[in-house]
Amino acid sequence: MVEETVFQGGVNTVRRRGDRVHRPATAAAPAIHRLLRHLRAAGFDAAPEPFGYDDEGNEVLSYLEGDVHNALPDELRTPELLTSAAALLRRFHDASATFAPGPDDRWQLPARSPAEVVCHGDLAPYNCVVRAGRVVGFIDFDNAHPGPRAWDLAYAVYRFAPLHAPTNPDSAGSPEEQARRAAAFCRAYGVAPGAELLDTVVDRLAALLATLRQRAEAGEAASQAHIAAGHPALYEEDIRYLRAQRERLLRTLAAPQDDPG
Ligand SMILES: Nc1ncnc2c1ncn2[C@@H]1O[C@H](COP(=O)(O)OP(=O)(O)O)[C@@H](O)[C@H]1O
Ligand SMILES: [Mg+2]
Repeated sequence: MVEETVFQGGVNTVRRRGDRVHRPATAAAPAIHRLLRHLRAAGFDAAPEPFGYDDEGNEVLSYLEGDVHNALPDELRTPELLTSAAALLRRFHDASATFAPGPDDRWQLPARSPAEVVCHGDLAPYNCVVRAGRVVGFIDFDNAHPGPRAWDLAYAVYRFAPLHAPTNPDSAGSPEEQARRAAAFCRAYGVAPGAELLDTVVDRLAALLATLRQRAEAGEAASQAHIAAGHPALYEEDIRYLRAQRERLLRTLAAPQDDPG
């Protein structure tokens, strides 16, 4: 009998057996497994390899060795961790750009136009595998969907800078520090940071709130639990913060790279 380790995520209970994990499969799993195979064929191996399904209907994926942190501890608020995540996101997007979505693909989030790449849909420290201070893998592709690079990038920046209001329990850093980290993330991804990024973060959070409420109304237990835990108020507060601090954040965000301010 293979020893089993149980992980509790924000939504799912995941069981590790040897070098594989078993996690509940959604209706999107066939499309996601096709995507995961495509990524490997395109040379991107920082995502789990799919191995079909077990007898209970769970999906079976390769286990990625390393640590997954729910929120970044202070010792991982480093330029290395930040830029490794951004560079890996860029490689993931580039590899996904040649994926051909099929007519029967059922994503859990609606495809968004322009469908330049496949968005991870929930790219945050809690879905990143860290080894030796660097992000070396992405997990949990449940919210993947075709969409624009900037849409996925905005959410990743929101979580990694992080662009939280001071009242958010995961908040860290002054607005200037947050903006510097957001700018570094964008540059390591390969785009110039600016006002568009902040606007996209706000749009992305509004969409997230709408999805959360729709899923809860449709009876999804995890979304109902997130609402009961007060998550919508946190996103709303972050949206208000990003609007109120827009000019202040922008001064640092859009400053030339060698500007010490
Ligand atoms: N392929 C994997 N490799 C390594 N660890 C994994 C993998 N999949 C899940 N885990 C572990 O299980 C936890 C929950 O997994 P995740 O798929 O993110 O669940 P949820 O859908 O609830 O967010 C993660 O935080 C991580 O520790
Ligand atoms: Mg997860």
